[in-house]
Amino acid sequence: MAKPLLSALKGESTNDVPIWLMRQAGRYLPEYMEVRARSKDFLDFCYNPELAVEVTLQPVRRFGLDGAIIFSDILVIPDAMGQKVAYEPGRGPVLDALGDPRKVDDLSRESLRAHLAPVYQAITEVSQKLDDSVTLIGFAGAPWTIASYMIEGGSSRDFARLKSWAYGAPEKFAALIDILVDAVADHLCGQIEAGAEAVQIFDSWAGVLPEDAFDTWCLDPIKRIIASVKAVHPATPIIVFPNRVGFFYERMARDSGADAVSIDAMVPLATAREVLQKLVTVQGNLDPNLLCAPKELLDRRVDEVLEQARGAKAHIFNLGHGILPHTPPSAVKYVVERVHELSAG
Ligand code: CP3
Repeated sequence: MAKPLLSALKGESTNDVPIWLMRQAGRYLPEYMEVRARSKDFLDFCYNPELAVEVTLQPVRRFGLDGAIIFSDILVIPDAMGQKVAYEPGRGPVLDALGDPRKVDDLSRESLRAHLAPVYQAITEVSQKLDDSVTLIGFAGAPWTIASYMIEGGSSRDFARLKSWAYGAPEKFAALIDILVDAVADHLCGQIEAGAEAVQIFDSWAGVLPEDAFDTWCLDPIKRIIASVKAVHPATPIIVFPNRVGFFYERMARDSGADAVSIDAMVPLATAREVLQKLVTVQGNLDPNLLCAPKELLDRRVDEVLEQARGAKAHIFNLGHGILPHTPPSAVKYVVERVHELSAG
């Protein structure tokens, strides 16, 4: 049976617009909360294949999505390299911040694959359980975004510490980025070898970089990751999501080597169609808040996104960022059905 999402990622022309949603597994689903309550610690949960498989499948079963994204997190990479990572309710991730650029020398990629083996096991199990039409997606954070958590010790408003490393200790910062390029490429290959049919790179904080820094710390590392994954797995499509990078989306689409670019909700649809979709498959970009808005607004925007989707290359319907915890599951069901109905052959 054909896989509409995989076909769209491979650039094959399809009438159907496939749909999956970033953070489709999560707290807005009561069945997720039920499983989540079984482990106190979020990373233990991520490393428990049985639970990870179950929450990966929940939204696919409930909504009939075209893609399943493996349940894990971008911060498993610093955890696997020996940095302490914890998740505090209401605060998000808290890391033992690197502090001093010399700390980079303490990081090791040696046990990365062994540490992340439960993720690969969960992927293999999900791939055996999915319907033939559903595409399994693996993922990792991009080096800039992972580095932001490693250096800031958590989320940040201004990224002052991160930027003081990037600007003030560029050699040590480059050494950290280089380690992350290799770690991310290795982790993506591990996921593909376990059964992921496509992979996505999340650069959630790419949008705070000025031009030169964008090229150096966002585009170039992603390009190197893609080249090294493609050298081993040339047929596996790669999606990049450089969040909120505005005018730089075109560079990402043209120069990174990615098969698809995921766009945030602020990218104008005309730009998506006339600039980006001529280069790559485009994924996006409904504002996640519209899932909680009046139906008329939601309908109008879903239709506009589908209208732009009829461009030179394929379009994958998605959000501009992850689903919010207060989203009603009924709204997700409604959008999945509407996209499937309106785009059907
Ligand atoms: O369904 C899916 O999309 C797969 C699972 C997934 C998670 N995190 C699960 C998760 C994915 C793809 C991610 C990616 C991720 N993690 C990103 C990139 C995407 C983005 O949103 O920009 C980032 C920046 C992280 C780091 C991270 N992990 C943060 C900032 C948080 C706290 C956020 C919050 O909403 O509290 C997490 C924890 C996390 N990762 C949760 C989930 C479902 C919530 C924790 C819980 O259930 O207690």
